Amino acid sequence: MPRSLWGGRTNLRERSGCKFMYLDTSDEKVLAGEFGETPQKMMEILVALGEVYEAEKLIPITSAQVSGASYKTIGKWGLAWLQSLDARVAVPTVLNPIGMPQEGWREFGIKEEFARNQALVVEAYRKLGIKLECTCTPYYLNITEYGEHLAWSESSAVAYANSVLGARTNREGGPSALAAAIIGKTPYYGLHIVANRRPQVVVEVEEGTGPRADHWGAIGHVAGKKVGNRIPIFEGIRPNRDQLKALGAAMAATGAVALFHVDKITPEARVFSFKTDDLERVTVTQDEVEALFAETEVEAVAVGCPHCSSAELEELAGLLKGKTTTKPFYIFAAAGVAKKNPDHVAAIERSGARVITDTCMVVSPRMDEFDSIMVDSGKALAYVPGMCGALARIGTRKECVEVATG
Ligand code: F3S
Repeated sequence: MPRSLWGGRTNLRERSGCKFMYLDTSDEKVLAGEFGETPQKMMEILVALGEVYEAEKLIPITSAQVSGASYKTIGKWGLAWLQSLDARVAVPTVLNPIGMPQEGWREFGIKEEFARNQALVVEAYRKLGIKLECTCTPYYLNITEYGEHLAWSESSAVAYANSVLGARTNREGGPSALAAAIIGKTPYYGLHIVANRRPQVVVEVEEGTGPRADHWGAIGHVAGKKVGNRIPIFEGIRPNRDQLKALGAAMAATGAVALFHVDKITPEARVFSFKTDDLERVTVTQDEVEALFAETEVEAVAVGCPHCSSAELEELAGLLKGKTTTKPFYIFAAAGVAKKNPDHVAAIERSGARVITDTCMVVSPRMDEFDSIMVDSGKALAYVPGMCGALARIGTRKECVEVATG
C-alpha cells in the first residue's frame, strides 16, 4: 500500500465523497514513494490541497516563488524541516526576501547569530536547486508570461502576476509553493481556472488633486478593506505598472486580493467582455486616502515594498541628488534589479541612503530596532506595526526623501 496522508486513495473517495483528483502514472509513482521520500511528501501536500479545493487534476507550472525564507519568520523548526528535505526543484524557482542582504549584512546591522541561521536557511534552499534571487518582485527577472500557470506565494507578487501580467497563480503558502516547485505541478483550482477570474465588485476612485491623490499604495490600502477577498475591477483610472504594483500589494495586505482588473489597462479586463451593471460598486474617497497620512516623527525611512523597479530607483536617485540623509534611509530592491542599475544605486548611496537587496523592511530583524518607520507603501503601512513592532507612517516617495534628509 502506498504511503500517503490519506491511507489509500479509495478510502479517501469513500470517506469524503469528494471528487477525486486525477493523477497520471508518473504522479502515482511519486505518491507511492518510487522517487524518494521528499517528492512523496510534496505530492501528498499537493494531493491534500487538491482534495480540499476539489481540483480535478494537477497541471504543470512554469515557475515557483517560495515564501518562508527569512529565519525571522520560519525559526528553528522551519529550518529543521527544510534541512530534512532531499530533492531538486523541477521548474525555475526563486525565493521571497530573506532576513538580511546576502552581502553586507554586518553593515546593515544584522547580528552574527541571526546571520548564521539565515545562512543555513539559504543553504537548505540552495540544495533544493532554488535560485538565490530573494525578492517579492520576481517578475522583474522575466520568468513569466501571459497565460502561464505558476505557484507563487508572496501576496504582492501573486497580485501582480495575475493582474498585470495575466499569468495564473493561487496565493500559495510556503510549503505548497515548494511542493509545486519540486513536483513541477499544482492542483488545478481557483485562479488557474479562467471562469474564476471574473470581477466581483466594481471600484471607483474619487478624483483628487495634489501629490497624494494618486498614491496608489494608499488607495489600495483603503480599497483592500472594502473589497476583502473579492476580485475587483477598477473603472476610470490609468495607473502605470509600478503604480499597479503598489495598488495590488496594498489590497493583498488589507484585503486578500490575489487578482484585480483595471478597465482598459490590465490584460484580462480586455479579454473578458465583462458586464459590470449587476455588481456591487464601492468608492474610495479622497478623504479616506488622506486620513492615512499622519505627520508624526519617525526614526527611520524605508521604501521598496514591494521591491523597487529600475524606474523607481532612478526616481529616488533624482530625488536624492545633492541631498544628505539625516536618519537611516533604506531602499529595498531585488539584487538583479540593483545590479542592472549601478549608476542609480551609486547616486542614491552618495546621499547616505542605502540600497538593500535580498531582504525587506518587514522580514528583516534590523527594522525591529526602530520604534517608528516612515514608508511609501500601503502594504508596509499595514504590516510594519505587527511584524516590526513599530509605528508606521505613510508618505509619498518625495515626502519620504524629505523626511530622510530633513
Ligand atoms: Fe515585498 Fe516585504 Fe513588502 S516581501 S511586498 S517588501 S513586505
